[in-house]
Amino acid sequence: MRFDVLTLFPEIFSGYLSQSLLKLAIDRGLVRVDLHNIRDWARSKHRNVDDRPFGGGPGMVLKPEPVVECVEAVQSQRDAEQPPGRLILLTPQGRRFDQRVAEELAQSDRLLLLCGRYEGFDQRVMDLLSPEEVSVGDFVLNGGEVAAMTIVDAVVRLLPGVLGDENSSIEDSFSRGNRLLEHAQYTRPREYRGLAVPDVLLNGNHPDIAEWRRQDSLRRTRDRRQDLLDSPAEEGSHEPPDADSK
Ligand code: ADE
Repeated sequence: MRFDVLTLFPEIFSGYLSQSLLKLAIDRGLVRVDLHNIRDWARSKHRNVDDRPFGGGPGMVLKPEPVVECVEAVQSQRDAEQPPGRLILLTPQGRRFDQRVAEELAQSDRLLLLCGRYEGFDQRVMDLLSPEEVSVGDFVLNGGEVAAMTIVDAVVRLLPGVLGDENSSIEDSFSRGNRLLEHAQYTRPREYRGLAVPDVLLNGNHPDIAEWRRQDSLRRTRDRRQDLLDSPAEEGSHEPPDADSK
């Protein structure tokens, strides 16, 4: 899968892309992430990419020309028979990103992630390019870069071959409608500062362990995210066991 990230700050991504799972996925040829600096498409002598808003008001607005021309240039980097890829603009005004959206995006061969800064984009960027607008939550970040990384991170771990165990993302909370939070996990030592690992996890009885984990997931979900249990089940979801019992 190919990601193209269009940003004024490509350096923000380099540490993230050179570590851990992302680095492995890139090294193994499962993922490609190309970074594009929008400023390279600025026309003026001083390479300005922003300007004051017409009508007044605080902050600066990203000018349409460098953004539109950067997107068009990146979209044109493909063979004639290939589609241009899904264009996603990161903004707090967009459709809310969640595991279901991640699963949907993971079906694409190519995603273009357009990151804004300042007070946002000139409206003509949206009018001309018709991007899908996506938000990672109801809060305002300083720019779309962290949101773009969030999307790359959540999507990449769903791609076949990226996680060691093919099933491990299927077990994730929220995956394909799984409405339970993860159960507690323990490792050595068996006791730490007076806190012992539950006996059931030590006895090697796998049906008992599975049942304890199921109940722990349910307990946590009830305590922390009752809304997940209240929302209607999706097709193919794991039905929470005994959701009505206390
Ligand atoms: N840019 C600024 N805030 C954002 C958010 N919450 N989601 C996506 N992009 C953003």
